[in-house]
Amino acid sequence: MRLTIAIDGPAGSGKSTVARRVAAMLGYVYLDSGAMYRAVALKALDRKIPLEDEMRLIELARATHIELKAPTAEQESAGLKNRVFLDGREVTTEIRTGEVAQAASRLATIAGVREVLVVEQQKAGEGGGVVMEGRDIGTVVFPGAELKIFLEASPETRAQRRWMEHQEKGETLTVKEVLEEVHERDKRDRERKVSPLVRAKDAVLVDNTAMGIEETARLIVMLARERETGARVQAN
Ligand code: CDP
Ligand code: CDP
Repeated sequence: MRLTIAIDGPAGSGKSTVARRVAAMLGYVYLDSGAMYRAVALKALDRKIPLEDEMRLIELARATHIELKAPTAEQESAGLKNRVFLDGREVTTEIRTGEVAQAASRLATIAGVREVLVVEQQKAGEGGGVVMEGRDIGTVVFPGAELKIFLEASPETRAQRRWMEHQEKGETLTVKEVLEEVHERDKRDRERKVSPLVRAKDAVLVDNTAMGIEETARLIVMLARERETGARVQAN
């Protein structure tokens, strides 16, 4: 049986990297729901739509076509986790800025925007054999997922990880600035009224502050294998 695996958690906890690795180990499809919020946010910024204008942003989300594609082998070995297309245009690297991340988390507080994207995520993941990561996958998008993981790491570790990524891109932010950005976004994500970032009751809490990517992915794959076997036994 091919499971639906939901991985949720705060910024920099390792969701994308770990989810991508888990999907590769299991032969599942990897889906990054945050990339969808980022893509709509990028479009709103490009069109200079104020992030307070809920009606226009909901309209914008409805009129937007987002596609998530697997990277080529070459792109993958260069560290690219997925490719994102916004209305047919590739925006894979453009959506990975601090400005877009902040705009995405503001836009993500709007119920009508979430409704549009949740339907798209449910369509993309139907049939199982997927690892989807985000903030509300185990609570809202796939409440019936056979395996739910809530991935955590200390705020300092998460900021440090994000800072390293900025360094690699040649950006000159300080760790303190990155920590502030991560704090602000986490607070907004955890405190919003609609689909806040919370651990689903049946999610396994995995704190990977002191764990590497491979170790974390292996732990999740082990849990997935157990669930796969459990589901098979139940079916017989
Ligand atoms: O998707 P999310 O914001 O949760 O985090 P990510 O983009 O997957 O991970 C942020 C950075 O932390 C990446 O550069 C990962 O390679 C790194 N990471 C790590 O060093 N150790 C881990 N156990 C998990 C992630
Ligand atoms: O990679 P990182 O954890 O920094 O962020 P992301 O997963 O790309 O998500 C960007 C923003 O989109 C988050 O700060 C959330 O506000 C929002 N988001 C959400 O509300 N629900 C999701 N399922 C995924 C992302």
